[in-house]
Amino acid sequence: MTKTGLAYAKINLSLDIISKMPDGYHNLKMVMQGVGLCDEITIDCRPGKGITVTDPGFQYLPCDERNIAVKAAKAFYGHTGITGYKTGIRIKKSIPVGAGLGGGSADGACVLRMMDEMFGTGLDRETLIKLGSLVGSDVPFCIFGGTKLAEGRGEVLTDLTPIPQCRIVICKPWFSCSTPELFKRVNCKNIRMRPHTEGLTAALEKGDLGDVARHMYNVFEDALPRGRRDVEDIKYKMLDCGALGSAMTGSGPSVFGLFDNEENAQKAYEKLKPQYRDCFLTQTVK
Ligand code: C5P
Repeated sequence: MTKTGLAYAKINLSLDIISKMPDGYHNLKMVMQGVGLCDEITIDCRPGKGITVTDPGFQYLPCDERNIAVKAAKAFYGHTGITGYKTGIRIKKSIPVGAGLGGGSADGACVLRMMDEMFGTGLDRETLIKLGSLVGSDVPFCIFGGTKLAEGRGEVLTDLTPIPQCRIVICKPWFSCSTPELFKRVNCKNIRMRPHTEGLTAALEKGDLGDVARHMYNVFEDALPRGRRDVEDIKYKMLDCGALGSAMTGSGPSVFGLFDNEENAQKAYEKLKPQYRDCFLTQTVK
């Protein structure tokens, strides 16, 4: 049997680091949003054994056990006890890697969701979250998408009022960020500026996109070891083109801008695209 599905990227409307946990992970508070930028995943399961992953046209993705899609398939088989299938996963990549857009997490989440459908296992929300968090911290959110508050390591999910439909421009500077490295640079007790998460969720409840944009902030922006100027430059260009607000997503370095107006979004995209290869014009996904 074969199935094809879409793995949607995420952006962080806010990201706050509350504390460091005894296991070395961090206790987070993030408002996350699914966006239309996506990878396409095809899974083929037939009698046999082994899990393989292929990625036509993209050289930087590990195609072995380190690939999060393979980890997800293993977690699925491990939990359900299903055996005897040769599993081929093909990933047509559009989401840039090392970008803060949850590209790997989206793929892992899509594999879990699709395999659950293909094998008719009907895993409940709690089980999917548990399996997802074994695969990666952002995977639980990516399984469900929409607009959510994610806490703990990212596995404590609360549905929020969906953001009003809007256009989003995403632009990745030329460098990449190492997530563990960035976490190491943050001293939770000494964070200079934090997002006002409650203000952001209240703005979502009101359906006020301008107020949502005003409350967006990511504490990692202050911890970037380099490239801060690029991030600021992209933000400035987004705002100059009429973005309601702009912030870095996840552990960066991608920057996004929220637009309530198609023309302005197009203008920002056209301004940034000649300068940055990974520049996308997309929208929110419910
Ligand atoms: O779970 P994931 O593999 O996506 O996490 C990547 C790295 O990010 C972890 O090894 C850890 O260093 C850091 N991390 C963290 N706290 C979190 C999520 C990730 O310290 N809540």
